[in-house]
Amino acid sequence: MSIYALARPLLLSMDAEAAHGLTLRALKMGLAPCHKAETPLLAVNLWGRDFANPLGLAAGFDKGAEVIGPLFDMGFGFVETGTVTPLPQAGNPRPRVFRDAANKSVLNRMGFPGCGLEAFTRNVKTYRATAGRAGGVLGVNIGINKDTRQPLDDYRRCIAALAQDADYITVNVSSPNTAGLRDLQAREELDKLLAAVMDAREKTGHKKPLLLKVAPDLDEAQCAAIAELALHHGIDGLIVSNTTVTRPAQLKPSLKREKGGLSGQLLKPLATAKIAAFYKLLAGRLPIVGVGGIATAEDAYEKIRAGASLVQVYSGLVFEGPKLVPNVLTGLEALLKRDGYTHISHAVGVDAQVAAFRRTGAETPDNAA
Ligand SMILES: Cc1cc2nc3c(=O)[nH]c(=O)nc-3n(C[C@H](O)[C@H](O)[C@H](O)COP(=O)(O)O)c2cc1C
Repeated sequence: MSIYALARPLLLSMDAEAAHGLTLRALKMGLAPCHKAETPLLAVNLWGRDFANPLGLAAGFDKGAEVIGPLFDMGFGFVETGTVTPLPQAGNPRPRVFRDAANKSVLNRMGFPGCGLEAFTRNVKTYRATAGRAGGVLGVNIGINKDTRQPLDDYRRCIAALAQDADYITVNVSSPNTAGLRDLQAREELDKLLAAVMDAREKTGHKKPLLLKVAPDLDEAQCAAIAELALHHGIDGLIVSNTTVTRPAQLKPSLKREKGGLSGQLLKPLATAKIAAFYKLLAGRLPIVGVGGIATAEDAYEKIRAGASLVQVYSGLVFEGPKLVPNVLTGLEALLKRDGYTHISHAVGVDAQVAAFRRTGAETPDNAA
């Protein structure tokens, strides 16, 4: 029995944030299980970078870039650290993370607690100095301080500090727990923001891919505006999605009135629908990273078929533990083989293609198994 399997009942009985703190300590002590199985079927090349596999760790788990090495050892193809803000801040008062175990979902209103950009950058540099680029693809997710008067400057500062060491940078405009943050997704605001971050990247001299992480609660017109602006400004990809502020009927009643963003199984259908919507809007011109409710290989496959080139998890790990990583990867390989795909990229967006062909009554394309 693994250490995690022994500790699981204890972790799930504790306050969610305390359990997370204990998990981070265990990872720092080197107690993470190692999984390194590489298969050409699952290897992805995007933005000129090689991903050993398409499964990444979503932002928020390693907010301070403290356990990057152990997370890669668990078998993730990429790890997104952060969200980091320029200055250290405490976040919202506790308790601020809640589990709904029956629905394998999490509600959080953390509000970007963190060590700030200086300590975060030091941690990333220390990781690079010891492990170089061997572990996997390293993303950094950047945000703004609660009391900032100049949100665009906050993003600019983070880009300037991290462009050298990050493999990609995610501009987070979709956490629901920082007042005004999601408003940056509106057309006029986003236009200014994207111009500012692209300019900040240019000034660094490192052309690191810039991704935009969006909410699942956008309507059709908002999605269309985001897709148009992302293409116009030359953003490199979208991460779809962050947590939802909607409250599905099945959610544990005691959590329905808690403020915050919901993730996990109850987010899954909404996130997948938004991936499909963006895939249709972008028509293959920008890659999508799909996230929201992945806990099994089938969940990951669904996101890929909806249009995701890469996927990420967070809440699934809370309920399934580290075995989720090998389970998803071996299961995904089996699903691709079952459907006759010789490479994962061939499955990206096939459900959208099938839907389109059904509408026109034409024959199903060869790669839409
Ligand atoms: C406790 C917690 C903290 C999170 N913190 C962040 C964060 O700092 N930045 C961010 O972009 N997303 C954050 N997220 C959102 C996740 O990255 C992810 O987009 C979302 O949880 C959906 O994926 P999941 O259903 O696999 O958890 C957080 C999620 C949780 C549960």
